[in-house]
Amino acid sequence: MLIAPSILTANFAKLEEELIKIETADKIHLDVMDGHFVPNISFGPHIARSISKVSKLPLDIHLMVTDPLFWIDQFVFSNTEYLTIHVEANDVKETIKKIKQANVKVGISLKPKTKVYDIIPYLSQCDLVLVMTVEPGFGGQSFMTEMMDKVVELVKLREEKGLDFLIEVDGGISDQTIDICKKSGVDMAVAGSYIFNHKDPIEAIKSLK
Ligand code: DX5
Ligand code: ZN
Repeated sequence: MLIAPSILTANFAKLEEELIKIETADKIHLDVMDGHFVPNISFGPHIARSISKVSKLPLDIHLMVTDPLFWIDQFVFSNTEYLTIHVEANDVKETIKKIKQANVKVGISLKPKTKVYDIIPYLSQCDLVLVMTVEPGFGGQSFMTEMMDKVVELVKLREEKGLDFLIEVDGGISDQTIDICKKSGVDMAVAGSYIFNHKDPIEAIKSLK
């Protein structure tokens, strides 16, 4: 299982120290929120760029914004591996094209109430599908087990269509919920509060892996 800690619950006043604690992870998950697509504001390109300079890990950037097309260029750093947009956002087709032009891997995400059916038209162009296991906007919420049905459906679709996107989950991931993710076929898990509220983040990452 690949593990991508979300820094949303990290101490932003000591960000560099927080990043050092998670060096054993596979990616860093950056949650960008515009206060419109979700009822919260997190951080923008300036902080993301600072993080990209101090961390050696690939960046997994999750754009919870209404107009991702406008933001793509501003989140392309030398270590941006994935730029994930929401299928519920504006200009999905054009934004995917723009991410590809920037030579970054494309991720598509769906909120809990959105069906897998809605992302099918984009699947062949995606490197990653991010299944939200909480309503996007805040860390520390409870895992929605019923979202595992979507993971199972995606595993099946990937095989049927001969595709190779990764399946990622985000929200409420802990040592209590990681097993069902693994059993359902998840490849990569995002975890925020479980890792950053743990007394030993390295141990937390290890237990999830
Ligand atoms: C929620 C974010 C998540 C969040 C996860 O909108 O996309 O990445 O930070 O936090 P936890 O692991 O605390 O649920
Ligand atoms: Zn996220």
